Parts: sequence; C-alpha cells; structure tokens
Amino acid sequence: MCGIVGYIGNKQAYPILIKGLQRLEYRGYDSAGIALIHGDKLSVYKAKGKVSDLVQFAEQKDIEGTIGIAHTRWATHGEPNQVNAHPHYSQSEELALIHNGIIENYAVLKEGLTKHGYTFSSQTDTEVLVQLIEYIKKSNEVNLTTAVQLALNQVVGAYAIAVIEKGHPDVIVAARKGSPLVVGIGDDEFFLASDATPIVEFTDQVVYVGDEEVVTLQRGKQLKIKTIGNVEKTPEIKKLEMTLSQLEKGGYPHFMIKEIFEQPKTLADSMRGRVNVDENNITLAGFIDNKEKFLNAKRIIITACGTSWHSALIGKYAIEEFARIPVEVEYSSEFRYRKPVIHEDDIVIAISQSGETADTLAAVELAKSKGAFIFGICNVVGSSIPRNTHSGCYTHAGPEIGVASTKAFTAQVTVLTMLAMMIGKEKGTLSQEDYLKIVYELARIPEKIGVILKQDSTIAEFAKTFTYAQNFIYLGRGYNFPVALEGALKLKEISYIHAEGYPAAEMKHGPIALISQEMPVVVIATSAGMYEKVVSNIQEIKARKGRIISIVTDGDEVVSNLSDHIISIPDTEECLVPLLAAIPLQLLAYHIAVVKGCDVDQPRNLAKSVTVE
Ligand code: F6R
Repeated sequence: MCGIVGYIGNKQAYPILIKGLQRLEYRGYDSAGIALIHGDKLSVYKAKGKVSDLVQFAEQKDIEGTIGIAHTRWATHGEPNQVNAHPHYSQSEELALIHNGIIENYAVLKEGLTKHGYTFSSQTDTEVLVQLIEYIKKSNEVNLTTAVQLALNQVVGAYAIAVIEKGHPDVIVAARKGSPLVVGIGDDEFFLASDATPIVEFTDQVVYVGDEEVVTLQRGKQLKIKTIGNVEKTPEIKKLEMTLSQLEKGGYPHFMIKEIFEQPKTLADSMRGRVNVDENNITLAGFIDNKEKFLNAKRIIITACGTSWHSALIGKYAIEEFARIPVEVEYSSEFRYRKPVIHEDDIVIAISQSGETADTLAAVELAKSKGAFIFGICNVVGSSIPRNTHSGCYTHAGPEIGVASTKAFTAQVTVLTMLAMMIGKEKGTLSQEDYLKIVYELARIPEKIGVILKQDSTIAEFAKTFTYAQNFIYLGRGYNFPVALEGALKLKEISYIHAEGYPAAEMKHGPIALISQEMPVVVIATSAGMYEKVVSNIQEIKARKGRIISIVTDGDEVVSNLSDHIISIPDTEECLVPLLAAIPLQLLAYHIAVVKGCDVDQPRNLAKSVTVE
C-alpha cells in the first residue's frame, strides 16, 4: 500500500532508491517517482506504471545526488497517473514529499490553503500535506523539522512521510503515524523505508519509528527523533535478522512459486525450538508466558483479513476442538466499526502476515481499549501489530514478497495449531494420546509437503485445460472448508477468474444451480474429515456434469474414479490436513495464472500490505 524509501550519505542515491523501490514494489505498483537534490537543484521524476517505467524515464535526466526520496504507489485518492504519482512538489517547488497513508481531513486543509493562494495540480491528499508544510514553514519562519511537526498536528489520518528541501542537501525529515517507517543506520549514511527490505543489504542496524514521531536524518550527525509535540526521544537501535538471499527469487520465475516451494523449510522454521520430536512435546513461549490467561479464557476472538482470516477459521476449529474454548472469528474491518461486545477477560488474537494491516491494527487498538488481552500472530518482526499487542508469537516464515500469501498462511495455521494443542493439553481437554499423535504428525508435515511439491509439473499440465473457465467453485468440509475459501481467493486474486469457496454441504442450498459442464469444481476430499459425506457431494456435482478436480489422500479410489483430475496428498491427522491440502491449491492457482499470462507476483489492483482502511 505504497512504499517509501529515502537515502542520505556518501553514495549516489539514485541506484539505492531504485533498488529500494523494486524491493518495495509489492506494496503498490501503479506509479512511481523519485526526488533528488544535486547542487542547488531539487528534481522530481515520476512515471505511471511500474518502477521499470520510472527507470526508463529518469535515466535520460540528471540523476546525480547523494540525497533523495522515492515512492511506489497504490492509488487511494486520484487515479494512477503521472500527476498523482509521488513525490509531490510544494507550490514554490522548494519541497518534495512522499507519503504512504491517507490524510482524512485533506479537504478542510485544502480549503484553508486555497484561501492563502495555494493551488493544486493533483487529486491527491498528499499534495495538500506538502503545501501545508511549506505554508507553515514560510509563515512561521521555522526549519523543516518544526514545520513538519506543526503540520502533522493539524493532520487527521495515517501517514509515513519523507520530505526534502531545495538548498538543504544535508537533511531528510520523515515521520509516521499508522503507516510503517524504518530508519537504517549505516556508516555516515541513513536509509529510510516502509520496511526493512530495501535496507538489509546496506546495514543491519535499524530504528523502527514510532507513531507521531518525526525523525531528522542529517548528514554527519546522529539520528534525531522528536514527537510531533516536540518531546525528544532516544533512538532504540535494533538488529535486523533478515538476510539478502531471502529477498531474491533464487532461480524461480516468480516469488510466489519460490515461496510455495519454500514451505517445507518455512514450516520447519515455524516449528523450530517449539516442536520437540524426541520428547514428543510442544513449547510455545507465547503460550507459556500467558498460560493463566489462556487457561482461564471464557472466549477467544480472532481478528484478521483475507488469507489471515482463513487461517483464523482453521484456528477456531482447532481451539474449539482441543481447548473447548468458544472462538469467534471476525473480519477486522467489520469488528472495528460494529460496536462488538468485548470483555476484559476475552483474549483477542490478531493474525497478520505484514503486521501492518490498518484494519487489524485498528481492531487491536479497539480491543485493547476495552481491556481485553491482545495476542498477535504475525510474520514481519518488529511490525506495528506485534508492537501494539500484549504478547504473541511470530510465524517465522521469512519475508513473503509475492502479493498472494502462501507460506505465511501455512505458518499461521501451524502456530495456531500449536497454540490450540498447548491450551488443550494444559486444560486436559486434549487427551495425551491425541496430543502425542498430533505432535508426531506435525513434525512430519514439512517432509509431506515436499512429497506434494513433486506433483508440480502434473498440476502445471492440467492447469492449462482450465484457462477457459470464467468461474470456479471450491468445496470442503470441516477443517477443509477454510482451505476451500483460501484456494478460491488464491485463484481469483492472481488469475482474475471468479472463484467461490463453500462448505460442500451448502451446495444444495443454492450454488448447485451454477453447476454445468463449464464449471470446474475443486473438492477437498481427503480421507480424514467427513469423507463419505464429501463423496455424496461429489456425486451431486457429477450428476450435473461439473468438471471435478479433487484433492484426495494417497491410495484413494472412490473419489479418484469420480474426478476428472486428482491431486493426492499424504495422509495425516484431520486438523493438519489444511497444511497439506493448501499446497496443491496454491500450485493450481499459480499455474492457471501463469498460463493466462497474468502478473503473478503483482496482480492488478492489489498490494501486499494494506495500510489503508
Ligand atoms: C491474499 C492476501 C491478503 C492478505 C490480507 C491480510 O493472498 O495476501 O488477503 O492476507 O491483506 O494481510 P496481513 O496478513 O498482512 O494482515
């Protein structure tokens, strides 16, 4: 949802900024721009389209300079075009500003500035902000940092911004509220970005900027942080754990397929130090630290969006089965606005890959304000949600760059399963025998995913026969119902084929009307989990000539005979089937999208980290 990057130091800024934008392109890719100071010139170059379009445009210009800021956009206000792209100049063209977020009161601010003679060339809320900073700077005769502080006091909304000023090649001022911002500290140089991915190849020393903090990056000086209320803060320097190779495609054509294939490793990482095969035990620090809270919880609410919401549903099934605690699963965007009943003894679990999703962050704040205990399950270390929750667990899937979530989903399900098992074991609601069986099977999941991945070329082959389809239906029951939802989401977001997931038995209550020989139906029909019932549902589809693709357990005959295509997965415990069944569905969506020529890693209209509501 827009990526911002900045550099000030001894090196040429342009290549660093462009590479940074490329790393952040998953956050938005409808236009991009860069501002550089070279001598007494402040130049802004912008282009509609991807970072590669900006490069083509900018490289014929003066791209010298050791200070600059750059932006890749996911449009909120104003269509994606060159004028609305960032950076935005102030009226005098003395300031250039980039912004990620939404200025909610931009219309009021704009009206005020218009009265002072300001005119606007774009339709963006961001241009209002740069004009406001300039107006305040000139009318109060203050420096850039103070002008930014004063301006942000008037702003309602979310922002991560960076501003540079003509004639001041030694300073970048940046600030954040709601949207993420990280400063990298190198040798006599500073980096600035929406997340650490553009910074990691230069330094592992970072400072996560806090809400309503303004940072001044000055050449040859220490990093300065003040709040918008002018309270000085001491920078808290953290060490990055991320490595550069995690951010590269490593020989794969797309990040998505790389991330699908990484799952044996990422799930092993999620379990590392947590699942002990020799002792047949699970140790999840997030649970142990908050044991009493979990054991006494009368209710758990899980809040999330998109794919994370699907893993939340699987978490609900596991927690209710093993721990016998009622669980409600809420879309964060609904939860935050619909006056939900939240009690002080509720546990609210927020699930988010990015840790930055605006709706989930707002849901966390709401639940916190009602006195609930908030537990985060996030992937990006140091992101906003883990920093705003009382406790939690990281999923440890490593950076997920493909816009369609894959390895983060399976890692979330793994952590939720471990959590459910630990609560159940401690409460005595999960028998020791079942607990041991599931621990044993959980430890074998990475290896079993490895086996499923060997069918990649078969799936790629039959995927070709489905590119004609306008619609798909995905069916599953029990733990496999959320997997059906997730399979459908994967297909629609990257291939633009309309797809719906349903509980298989719901078919006869409406969706069955859609079935014809044109309609591919993907059914998760594994032996663990209401197999006979699903077989009946498949018969119903077959009778109406639907084309059936089934996910079955190795050795299956009945469903295989009824299906046009099958993908078989190894047998496992019922609660763990989603970890295996999700893999062929990810591969199916990927290959259909590739054959259709879609931009798999950067599907249209989407962005990875949804930092606007
Ligand atoms: C789908 C997808 C999105 C995200 C959703 C929540 O493939 O990636 O649906 O799952 O935007 O994002 P996080 O998990 O970062 O809060």
